[in-house]
Amino acid sequence: MMKSNEEKLSEIIYGYTVDINQLEEEGQMLRETISQLRGEIDRYRRSPLMLCEIREVHGLQAIIKIPNGNQFLVEVASACEKLRPGDAVFVEQKNLTIVKKARSSRRHNVEKFVIVERPSLSWQDIGGMQGQIDEIREVIETPLLRPELFEQVGIEPPKGILLHGPPGTGKTMLAKAVASSTNSTFIEIVGSELVQKFIGEGAKMVKEIFQLARERAPSIIFIDEVDAIAARRIELGTSGEREVQRTFMQLLAEIDGFKSLGNIKVIGCTNRRDILDPAVMRPGRLERQIHVPVPDRKGRQEIYQIHAKRMNAVSTDFDKLVELSEGMSGADIKSVCTEAGYFAIRAGRPKVFHQDFIAAVGKVRQRGESEDTDYRQMFG
Ligand SMILES: Nc1ncnc2c1ncn2[C@@H]1O[C@H](COP(=O)(O)OP(=O)(O)OP(=O)(O)O)[C@@H](O)[C@H]1O
Ligand SMILES: [Mg+2]
Repeated sequence: MMKSNEEKLSEIIYGYTVDINQLEEEGQMLRETISQLRGEIDRYRRSPLMLCEIREVHGLQAIIKIPNGNQFLVEVASACEKLRPGDAVFVEQKNLTIVKKARSSRRHNVEKFVIVERPSLSWQDIGGMQGQIDEIREVIETPLLRPELFEQVGIEPPKGILLHGPPGTGKTMLAKAVASSTNSTFIEIVGSELVQKFIGEGAKMVKEIFQLARERAPSIIFIDEVDAIAARRIELGTSGEREVQRTFMQLLAEIDGFKSLGNIKVIGCTNRRDILDPAVMRPGRLERQIHVPVPDRKGRQEIYQIHAKRMNAVSTDFDKLVELSEGMSGADIKSVCTEAGYFAIRAGRPKVFHQDFIAAVGKVRQRGESEDTDYRQMFG
């Protein structure tokens, strides 16, 4: 049956209507895409926010420190959460308005650069040094474990101690052993690294280290080579020297800032007590100084026993070795044992003989003499 013209026409019209609807839909989609892209372009045009640090907060205003060190009093956006000094914030570059708090806690820095551990080193691992061990237990261990004893008597134990003496005599060991016996977090920093690695940030690092110590208390903050921060300075010529001075001042402020019967202790360590600024050793700071000299006869005997214990050695005349090792440090004695083992290996023996030890003493002595000549006479 033939369609009438009328029918054909209405079919065509219907076809166009469908098309129009489709086109309208497409048009709508394109308009949306355009507005999305516009938004994206706007986002790209927006100037980046600057990461700054809060110094002080005064209601809806705050003092911030911008990365170049300058400080400004600026507005805080009303949507911004509560701020505290030390917080990192994002600010507009033009008017420095604080837009929001930065999530990234800068403190994680500190955990990357300091060594934080819970050592397991017992007093038995240390040879000799009975006097030093007793003293460190009395000044660090007892106050941490039994603070009530001090409260009852009404005295304040030192907040910190200074271990001083030649290299390799077991100063680090002593500090670790007391951290271990008090079940404390051991936070180790090296003075020279603190001033070299964190140029312009040393003081801030010190602050963060003590913050970390408070969070992980009980804590022992061990500052190796403390002389790199706390040396007496005659003049503050270069900016580097001023920076070290700032780091030092921050260290003193932090030590002054905690209570002597709290659960943080500071152990400084140095081979150069002679160059230290007396300010660091004042009462209330690293007030007790413990000298760690090279071991005496009895000490050397014990150190040999500790290190040789694990070795496959034929019974050895330690007396002879102890005599030959006069003036050696614990680290030297450990080297003697290692070297003795090497002599055995070279001779193709599984057992270490007495003469291996004797030869090793000679070798370690020679090495020591070529390395740090006269060190012991200078600072021992
Ligand atoms: N009294 C000791 N008893 C047992 N081992 C010791 C003793 N002294 C030193 N040693 C050995 O020497 C190593 C180095 O000792 P340690 O790092 O404690 O010395 P240090 O005094 O801190 O030296 P430095 O001043 O160079 O930092 C120890 O790991 C240990 O093996
Ligand atoms: Mg050490």
